[in-house]
Amino acid sequence: MKKSLIAVLAVVAVVAFALAGVAYAAKTKSGEVADVMKIDNTKTFGTLTKSPVTFSHTKHNVDYKVKCERCHHVFKDKKNTWKEGDKVQKCAACHTSPKENAGEMLSLYNAMHKDCRDCHKEQKKGPTKCDECHPKNK
Ligand code: HEC
Ligand code: HEC
Ligand code: HEC
Ligand code: HEC
Repeated sequence: MKKSLIAVLAVVAVVAFALAGVAYAAKTKSGEVADVMKIDNTKTFGTLTKSPVTFSHTKHNVDYKVKCERCHHVFKDKKNTWKEGDKVQKCAACHTSPKENAGEMLSLYNAMHKDCRDCHKEQKKGPTKCDECHPKNK
């Protein structure tokens, strides 16, 4: 009896959490922006050797005041012409090579680490160690 009640409560909690997640996700003209998402490009990398990275749009955009254009871009003549309201493509749509840069085009591996880790290093805030972004037990 007790066990099944706990099971029911657990299900309710999970559903409530999932609904809250949907409610917090922002609808922008650029599409639905997940509050928290797992960055997982298994398709491009083949298999992941590290755990997928949990990334919070809300924290970065709202709390840390990072503008969308800092991470999302469409370059024309070396200038970023992407603006909020434009569609967002997956990084892997352009950074198609998994590990090795393709000429001037950064590989997905380098694009991700340059974007994420370099800012954390510059600002001396946010995770810079492997396990902080790729937790070991996940
Ligand atoms: C600031 C966060 C961050 C840090 C710190 C970081 N990474 Fe990553 N890493 C990422 C993101 C984001 C991706 C892209 C994941 C994806 O698309 O699946 C990635 C992808 C990878 C991949 C390719 C995908 C895979 O699982 O095989 C490897 C390998 C990797 N990282 C290794 C490392 C190593 C080694 C370190 C430490 C030297 C490190 N990373 C530090 C964010 C980080
Ligand atoms: C700190 C970097 C960063 C900032 C700032 C940022 N994004 Fe993102 N966004 C990402 C990454 C990384 C992805 C995942 C892309 C992938 O998997 O290829 C993503 C995915 C998306 C997606 C795809 C839908 C989804 O959530 O799965 C949309 C839409 C989006 N972002 C819109 C925005 C908008 C609008 C803003 C500003 C209000 C913004 N982003 C700010 C890094 C950022
Ligand atoms: C529409 C194609 C396209 C998409 C989508 C794209 N990139 Fe890029 N990216 C480029 C091109 C082209 C360059 C080279 C720009 C130049 O000429 O310097 C570039 C350069 C970069 C650079 C190096 C220059 C800089 O801004 O620091 C980083 C880092 C980067 N991309 C990360 C990302 C990440 C992370 C995502 C996903 C959130 C992403 N890119 C999505 C096309 C794209
Ligand atoms: C322009 C700067 C900037 C960029 C780009 C950026 N971050 Fe951050 N990140 C921050 C700051 C600032 C913090 C806050 C650290 C603090 O206050 O302790 C942070 C914190 C984090 C944290 C820990 C707290 C949290 O929000 O969960 C994670 C994980 C993280 N970033 C992942 C990423 C990933 C993955 C990317 C690339 C897709 C990325 N960041 C790109 C500035 C940035």
